[in-house]
Amino acid sequence: MKHLLSIESLKPTEILEIVRLAHVLKADRGRENSKPLAGECWGLLFSKSSTRTRVSFEVGIRELGGEALFLSSSEIQLGRGEPIEDTARVLGRMLQGAVIRTFKQSDIETFARLSGIPTINALTDEEHPCQILADLLTIEELRGSLDGLQLAFIGDADCNMGRSWIWAAARLGFELRLACPDLYRPPAELLARANATVTITEDPEEAARGADILYTDVWVSMGKEEEAEHRAAQFARYQINDRVLAAAAPGAHVLHCLPAYRGKEITAEVFEAHANAIFQQAENRLHAQKAVMTLLKS
Ligand code: CP
Ligand code: NVA
Repeated sequence: MKHLLSIESLKPTEILEIVRLAHVLKADRGRENSKPLAGECWGLLFSKSSTRTRVSFEVGIRELGGEALFLSSSEIQLGRGEPIEDTARVLGRMLQGAVIRTFKQSDIETFARLSGIPTINALTDEEHPCQILADLLTIEELRGSLDGLQLAFIGDADCNMGRSWIWAAARLGFELRLACPDLYRPPAELLARANATVTITEDPEEAARGADILYTDVWVSMGKEEEAEHRAAQFARYQINDRVLAAAAPGAHVLHCLPAYRGKEITAEVFEAHANAIFQQAENRLHAQKAVMTLLKS
């Protein structure tokens, strides 16, 4: 594995190896002997806001022996129109790795190709692979394994998280149900390409029926702020609440990639009742990403 650009581009064995190593690194935190990033400086090139991704990478890079340099696009020439092609060729000569959060997936692919350094997708409009890897680690911790997993995603199934879950289901073969308004279905072309076991419905309770993980994300992803009012109307029914939870399997877990908007995609009551799992999920970003960086260096 040279880069982590998407879940789509990973083989099932690579996903499982990352999750396996993440369990080990989590158990060994603070007692690790190996420092695979020793002497290295990795850049975090972010064009969108972040709490979890930024902090987990900055901490993770340091724990693996490296240095992290945070580069907000608004403070470097990229934000004034310098092409990604030139940014990649400059940074590739100075940094040993790059973690990029931006809009277009193609920009990350261009950066990876032209910089020549290991490049990690820290969220694009199309995918959020680091979040999925942390979520798989969390689901294994909560359920004991991924066997027989039935996951229901309620909300904007066409956003980066919905799309990444489709690729995770395609690669690992679990059952995925998506509940979303008709306007926010993932593209038919993507579904055909993924060829996953996916059911799509406009009814959140139908999607939740018998599922053992209920998952949601914001109604308004970063970059879609102008559509906030339209989306609030479209997604009003697509909330994890007591009714939707009651349709799920007994003992079902609720996960949220965060940040969460209570009263929108999830009620405050359901959020607080499942806060332990949700914050375990947030912590697992650190362990999963340390596994990714370790494997990129091996
Ligand atoms: N879940 C996630 O990626 O959070 P941040 O936007 O805070 O990084
Ligand atoms: N779909 C959300 C994920 C945030 C982590 C967004 O892109 O804003």
